[in-house]
Amino acid sequence: MTTRHYTPVDALLIQVDQALRTVFGQPVTTGRPNPAMTAPAAELQPVEQQEAGRLMRVNHTGEVCAQALYQGQALTARLETVRDRMEQAVIEENDHLAWCEERLKELGSHPSILNPLFYTGAFMIGAAAGKAGDRWSLGFVAETEHQVVEHLKAHLHRLPAQDQPSRAILEQMKEDEARHATQALEAGGARLPLPVRALMKGVAKVMTGTTYWI
Ligand SMILES: [Fe+2]
Ligand SMILES: [Fe+2]
Repeated sequence: MTTRHYTPVDALLIQVDQALRTVFGQPVTTGRPNPAMTAPAAELQPVEQQEAGRLMRVNHTGEVCAQALYQGQALTARLETVRDRMEQAVIEENDHLAWCEERLKELGSHPSILNPLFYTGAFMIGAAAGKAGDRWSLGFVAETEHQVVEHLKAHLHRLPAQDQPSRAILEQMKEDEARHATQALEAGGARLPLPVRALMKGVAKVMTGTTYWI
């Protein structure tokens, strides 16, 4: 098999292309159907629809950040196997991104205007994690995914009970994220120190707190 070598300019253009697709375009997905399609249509009161839209906007930005984290890590990860594994997870995260965006539209809501900002920040965090070495990088993936699973559980409590389409999406995402965490640990991910885990929670709180509103 031949390996393609990219110049630094090629690599940069690939990253810019990925970023634009994530924030503004149509990212490449696995083609799995949106889980919301199997759920009964939701009859929501205006206030419930608004709340569901806000929560799904937060989840949409979470997936934008997931893309950026993985892209940043893929850029700096050293082992080819780690890179390949992450690229597979990236495509699955794109499913989540597409599903959340579809649901956002159905709810009459919109993606966060802060997405370019969060993409940039998350990309830099991901690149730093990748630079720290594959053991830490994979540990970072595992910890991120664990925190996302906890976050999704909380959102499943907060979503209006009858919003079955949004629930179906979050349930499938929860299952995928848990699998991503397990894969990262099995690939040799290290447990991150408590202060790092606490910092990650703090950063996530800023994201969830702001994108709920804008
Ligand atoms: Fe995801
Ligand atoms: Fe994930």
